Amino acid sequence: MSEPKRVAILISGGGSNMIRLVESMEGDHPARAVLVASNDASAAGLERAARLGVPTAAIDHRPFKGDRAAFEAELLKPILAAKPDILCLAGFMRVLTPAFVARFEGRMLNIHPSLLPLYPGLHTHQRALDAGDAEAGCTVHEVTAVLDTGPILGQARVAVEPEDTAETLAARVLGMEHRLYPAVLRRFAAGDRSPVWL
Ligand code: GAR
Repeated sequence: MSEPKRVAILISGGGSNMIRLVESMEGDHPARAVLVASNDASAAGLERAARLGVPTAAIDHRPFKGDRAAFEAELLKPILAAKPDILCLAGFMRVLTPAFVARFEGRMLNIHPSLLPLYPGLHTHQRALDAGDAEAGCTVHEVTAVLDTGPILGQARVAVEPEDTAETLAARVLGMEHRLYPAVLRRFAAGDRSPVWL
């Protein structure tokens, strides 16, 4: 068997998707987690990653005051040192520059809490409710220079219930995110880009 692919994961918050990804990469899985990095040193996910034995790094974006290229230059240091084959965005809430995206072209994934191409950007669950959608869900896609576009690698759907609020819908979709992202990563790391539908 060839060497497992090296996976770096970028987070901004609790990192529940990151945990599912890290936990999935064991045994005969074709990848291993080599780094969890955050733009926020207080992100709860960093401590969780460390407890799972994954090296962590925190680069606070705030001192860079909107200079995204300068922030990314710092963020790149631990990432390049970890020599990742694949970069997974998992609740990473900073928009990346086209130059950063280009470095990882074809090997950077993102999970987004909507059925793309519906609702790129923020407040996806409220927007699905406002539109009266019967279904909501999540998407894993390859990251390209345009936010929340890029080839779709998997989607999972849930029914919208009449009593749903943005919070209840988000929680139900998050449960599906936890199934979808590991399933897509396993396939992607094995060189298979055919989409996963849940
Ligand atoms: C997830 O719902 C993810 O889809 C979303 O943030 C949450 C992170 O949760 N990502 C985005 O909205 C990206 N634009 P987690 O930290 O518990 O994985």
